[in-house]
Amino acid sequence: MVLKSQLLLLLPSPVLSALIAPTASNCTASALLTPSIPGASILIVDAYESTLESTAISFCNVTLTYTHPGQNDLVKVWLGLPSTWNGRFEGVGGGGWVTGFPSEMVPAISQGYAAVSTDGGHDALSQATDSWALLSPGNVNLYALQNFASVALNDMTVLGKQLTEAYYGKAITKSYWSGCSTGGRQGLMMAQRYPDAYDGILAQAPGVSWAEFIPTMFWPQWIMHEIGYFPPQCELDTITAAATSACDELDGLKDDVIGLTGLCTFDPSTVVGQPYACSNVTGTISKEAAEIAKLTWTGATNAVGKLQWPGIAPGSPFSGIAGTTCDSSGGNCTGLPFAITTEWHRLFIQKNPGFDPYNYTQTGWDAAFHASIQEYTSIIGTSDPDLSEFKSSGGKMITWHGMADQLIPFNGTVSYYEHVLSLDANATDFYRFYSAPGVEHCRGGAGAAPTDPLAALVSWVEDDEVPQTLAASRTVNGTIWKQELCLYPLSSIYKGGDPAVASSYQCE
Ligand SMILES: *[C@@H]1O[C@H](CO)[C@@H](O)[C@H](O)[C@H]1NC(C)=O
Ligand SMILES: *[C@@H]1O[C@H](CO)[C@@H](O)[C@H](O)[C@H]1NC(C)=O
Ligand SMILES: *[C@@H]1O[C@H](CO)[C@@H](O)[C@H](O)[C@H]1NC(C)=O
Ligand SMILES: *[C@@H]1O[C@H](CO)[C@@H](O)[C@H](O)[C@H]1NC(C)=O
Ligand SMILES: *[C@@H]1O[C@H](CO)[C@@H](O)[C@H](O)[C@H]1NC(C)=O
Ligand SMILES: *[C@@H]1O[C@H](CO)[C@@H](O)[C@H](O)[C@H]1NC(C)=O
Ligand SMILES: *[C@@H]1O[C@H](CO)[C@@H](O)[C@H](O)[C@H]1NC(C)=O
Ligand SMILES: *[C@@H]1O[C@H](CO)[C@@H](O)[C@H](O)[C@H]1NC(C)=O
Repeated sequence: MVLKSQLLLLLPSPVLSALIAPTASNCTASALLTPSIPGASILIVDAYESTLESTAISFCNVTLTYTHPGQNDLVKVWLGLPSTWNGRFEGVGGGGWVTGFPSEMVPAISQGYAAVSTDGGHDALSQATDSWALLSPGNVNLYALQNFASVALNDMTVLGKQLTEAYYGKAITKSYWSGCSTGGRQGLMMAQRYPDAYDGILAQAPGVSWAEFIPTMFWPQWIMHEIGYFPPQCELDTITAAATSACDELDGLKDDVIGLTGLCTFDPSTVVGQPYACSNVTGTISKEAAEIAKLTWTGATNAVGKLQWPGIAPGSPFSGIAGTTCDSSGGNCTGLPFAITTEWHRLFIQKNPGFDPYNYTQTGWDAAFHASIQEYTSIIGTSDPDLSEFKSSGGKMITWHGMADQLIPFNGTVSYYEHVLSLDANATDFYRFYSAPGVEHCRGGAGAAPTDPLAALVSWVEDDEVPQTLAASRTVNGTIWKQELCLYPLSSIYKGGDPAVASSYQCE
């Protein structure tokens, strides 16, 4: 273990005096406590005074590097300690294969939170998944997967809390988790596996049931291969537009948003033969494309037609999991799968970097889906509906999910929440799930996205203000429209009046 403080002792004294800041600061490796956690060995502590570029807010930027002896890993924890501290602590989640991001800590630090995040032992922003997923063909790097899934998240929380309290010389008042997608899944992991870690958890558009939804993200690609047709994106986009126009007004308002996806019975076969036209491609909608759209919405099914995992809802862009790319004439289209699902099949299920998931037979597809659940649910499934320990530790959790999510099907989160409610009919006392009509993955889309869900969570945790709805807004033709997101299973229905004001909608 080499601490910066120990390095300093080795330096000649003129160099040493130049390195020590003239004004006493606690933001140095030597002034900081060296944190400790069972099972880990701290290797490097680094700390320096810094300022957030956008806001000129000053903070102490701490980086810890540690290993779990015997696991051959090297994990980084980033901690930001603002000079004006609000007494709270925030764990910041990642996205995709990224365990955590320093950049996502900026909003928390600028609001006065002590914020922590981690690289989870692999640098997913600059390293290909192939570089860490396998130890050798056939052998998954399970310790790396476990760090990404759970262990590094608890480590950063324990280490970050120790350093925060020592630095300020005061106890943390409340701790929060915030993340979307992988960060949302991580929030649920904290509630399920480390129920005392956080007082409040914001688990947005969570990648719950990873072992099921990640492999089935390949379903539309496999279907296109089976049908033998990869439609130009324009053809699929035209089907989305037709579905939106058919189902838009079920919620009372024509706004390019399908608010009631469950009631949308639009059948793509009704638009076969209708023209589509984009800047570089024109044609008429084929029965193949209609079938691909229908099967993408239904979701993956096995050899006897049983649903494996729900599909994305009508109105969601097809480009996320049913992406294709064509030559400039619009011909010779090929599939453009979402990278993580291909990697999951190649590296984690088949453990063979050269495997091509387009090559599955239905039997092979079903076996792969089963293997994924068998091997990985306990590591990264994050679908345990038993939140009783989180409840008894006094935790509160908020989830919202965009109904037009093009990557993680909205209905998967519905299914998790319903399991939680079936175990504890009073679960809304501590866990609330809101649907966001027309919102895509974490953000984007024509619908209203939550404006400050973390603030709603803080009010719930600290002031017992139960969030009946979640404030949201969208920009429509240059003006801001406000709307409240409803607690599932309620839906936001337009009741007349100015569509820009929240009181024109009701949860029913
Ligand atoms: C350093 O921390 C101590 C308490 O731990 C505090 O009294 C002192 O004011 C701090 N110094 C600076 C420069 O923040
Ligand atoms: C803290 O420092 C590390 C290492 O220099 C850097 O990567 C990170 O972006 C910094 N954190 C913030 C919040 O600026
Ligand atoms: C936005 O403006 C366009 C063009 O005037 C109009 O067709 C559309 O209906 C407007 N959108 C909404 C949601 O009102
Ligand atoms: C989602 O679930 C609802 C209610 O069970 C159902 O009506 C709807 O068809 C499902 N949608 C998808 C895309 O699976
Ligand atoms: C049309 O142009 C876009 C953007 O350059 C490209 O991504 C697409 O593959 C092209 N062809 C079709 C059929 O959409
Ligand atoms: C598809 O690619 C092949 C080989 O590159 C070419 O001969 C053919 O003309 C292309 N077809 C279309 C429709 O562009
Ligand atoms: C996929 O299947 C085809 C035909 O069965 C075979 O030629 C090809 O080698 C397979 N590709 C991979 C990557 O397994
Ligand atoms: C739910 O809460 C009500 C009122 O607090 C209580 O009477 C009931 O027993 C609780 N039900 C369960 C299943 O915990």
